[in-house]
Amino acid sequence: MGLKVLVTGGSGQVGSELVRFLLNSSSIEDVFAPSSSDLDLFSRDSVLDSISQMQPDWIIHAGAWTQVDACEDDPRRAFLINGLGTRFVVQAAEMVGCKVCYLSTDYVFDGRSTRPYLEWDPVGPKSVYGASKLAGEVEVRSCDLIVRTSWVMGEFGHNMAKTLVRLAKGGNNHGFVNDQIGTPTIVSDLVRSVTDLFLGGHSGIFHISNSGEASWYQVAQFVFETLGEDAGRISPISSEALKGYKAPRPQYSVLDNAALRGSGLSELPEWQDSLAGLVSKLSGGS
Ligand SMILES: NC(=O)c1ccc[n+]([C@@H]2O[C@H](COP(=O)([O-])OP(=O)(O)OC[C@H]3O[C@@H](n4cnc5c(N)ncnc54)[C@H](OP(=O)(O)O)[C@@H]3O)[C@@H](O)[C@H]2O)c1
Repeated sequence: MGLKVLVTGGSGQVGSELVRFLLNSSSIEDVFAPSSSDLDLFSRDSVLDSISQMQPDWIIHAGAWTQVDACEDDPRRAFLINGLGTRFVVQAAEMVGCKVCYLSTDYVFDGRSTRPYLEWDPVGPKSVYGASKLAGEVEVRSCDLIVRTSWVMGEFGHNMAKTLVRLAKGGNNHGFVNDQIGTPTIVSDLVRSVTDLFLGGHSGIFHISNSGEASWYQVAQFVFETLGEDAGRISPISSEALKGYKAPRPQYSVLDNAALRGSGLSELPEWQDSLAGLVSKLSGGS
């Protein structure tokens, strides 16, 4: 008998691709992806009812309020959805006897490190979003999984890869910050790795990002070059020049995937290899 898996946030960027991936996995018997009205993280009753009806073996908790700048304006909402909502999910998991894989973020770190962050490094979020996602981490049990990832880009939802493909075709010049360093994570790689983790019965904190590191300026240059567009249309700017971003971004948020490596699991490909494939799909290639 295969596993029954419930995905929260199944309409989101990661959730959409995860659901498709799991539906094609021979080890999974059933995939449930309740909408945010059927499983509303604001409501304890809604979360408990929905999960106890479906009786999953695993919950992949990808549902969250991810609008980083909007979170600064409404911390209450951020903590209710990302923190308390996760408490409800874990309570439901306890009721039905299943485990939780909670998706978290590089924003739990303060961004001042000079080397990639290990799973065991001290956290220190600088934004409301990061603090609210950390509040969710605190709710999960030691038998559960926490997957921190960064700079996520896939075929669904809004993301920087889609923006860059659009800008590349537009013909104008653009500035991108060269003083924020992180690692793009391509959703197709992420969902495969998350699935390896929970099917393998792992628990604890794992960092999962593609390999390597870059600034947004370098990512933008790479996308333009991949599309055969003039990367000279991209210029480096500093974060200080950016207006309209309320939430501070970590200056350095490269995640060392040490737990993945140490557990004998495959690390993700170099970000350039996977981003080239995504850009090709997004621009109408194979
Ligand atoms: N995107 C990134 O760069 C990034 C980086 C690191 C970590 N993460 C984490 O990865 C996870 C997935 O991110 P994503 O990019 O897929 O996010 P996303 O595209 O914004 O999707 C968020 C999902 O959460 C659902 N949701 C929002 N409010 C809800 C509520 N009150 N009740 C139930 N569901 C609710 C949304 O449903 P509706 O569409 O119906 O509102 C949507 O399906 C999140 O936990 C995020 O914190 C993301």
